Amino acid sequence: MSTLDGKTAVVTGAGRGIGRAIATRLAEAGARVAIIDKDPETAKDAAAALNGHALVADLTDAAAVDEVTAELTETLGVPDVFVNNAGILRSGRLLDSPVADWDAQFAVNTRAAFLATRAAAVAMRDGGKGGAIVVLTSNCARTPRMDLGAYCASKAATDMMARCLALELAAHRVRVNSLCPGSCDTELQRAQWVALGIGPERQIQGDPTSFRTGIPWGRLATPQDVAETALFLASDAAGFVTGQSLHVDGGQTLT
Ligand SMILES: NC(=O)c1ccc[n+]([C@@H]2O[C@H](COP(=O)([O-])OP(=O)(O)OC[C@H]3O[C@@H](n4cnc5c(N)ncnc54)[C@H](O)[C@@H]3O)[C@@H](O)[C@H]2O)c1
Repeated sequence: MSTLDGKTAVVTGAGRGIGRAIATRLAEAGARVAIIDKDPETAKDAAAALNGHALVADLTDAAAVDEVTAELTETLGVPDVFVNNAGILRSGRLLDSPVADWDAQFAVNTRAAFLATRAAAVAMRDGGKGGAIVVLTSNCARTPRMDLGAYCASKAATDMMARCLALELAAHRVRVNSLCPGSCDTELQRAQWVALGIGPERQIQGDPTSFRTGIPWGRLATPQDVAETALFLASDAAGFVTGQSLHVDGGQTLT
């Protein structure tokens, strides 16, 4: 029997990148998986590849979150596993970047994370069968980074939200953990390299001039590294693990 046989799982932002790898891994472990993404094409493509369901929603829209949650409950029932993964990154220094960049990152990384995770949490609480929630934050939720101030702040708030939710949901046997990847080879990361005029080598080696730590393990994270940890946190193997922030970053932060 596979780890998640008979379970249902929902992964947001799973049209590509880390979310898609997580959705794929949960499906391989036996779960029926639904993908939510704002991009209809990638959502459909990813869902078709793992024989799952695709739902299209911009999760910054509270009404859309309610609609998609109702649709999910009708098609799949109350999920056993919910992974909040959708996120965006805009590079730039706090002193110089437009307020719009701060707002955009908080809208997706913090507010939408709250809306979507809370909707799932309410359904799981009311469903009464327990479950697991995994919230993708970042290793920079706890470690300051040059050129990523607003992103760091938006993820730090969400990391704390996950820990508070863990407290609220413990009595309902819903575990909540924050999964904190380090630099991971995805389109989000590649766009950052272009914006900063750097490449993967600089990220792996670190850059003392900008107080940027390197990666002792000597390579970037892969979406699969993150997906394996998401599966662990989603599964009964982590049955007594809640309220934690688990770093998957090859030692990049050592916090
Ligand atoms: N790649 C990294 O180095 C890295 C490191 C640490 C944390 N993370 C976090 O991991 C998560 C996944 O990152 P990724 O690198 O795979 O990103 P990505 O840009 O490759 O994929 C993000 C997905 O989220 C979807 N999305 C974005 N905004 C949305 C919205 N408002 N509503 C619905 N869907 C939305 C996008 O359409 C896309 O499919 C993010 O939360 C990111 O902040 C990434």
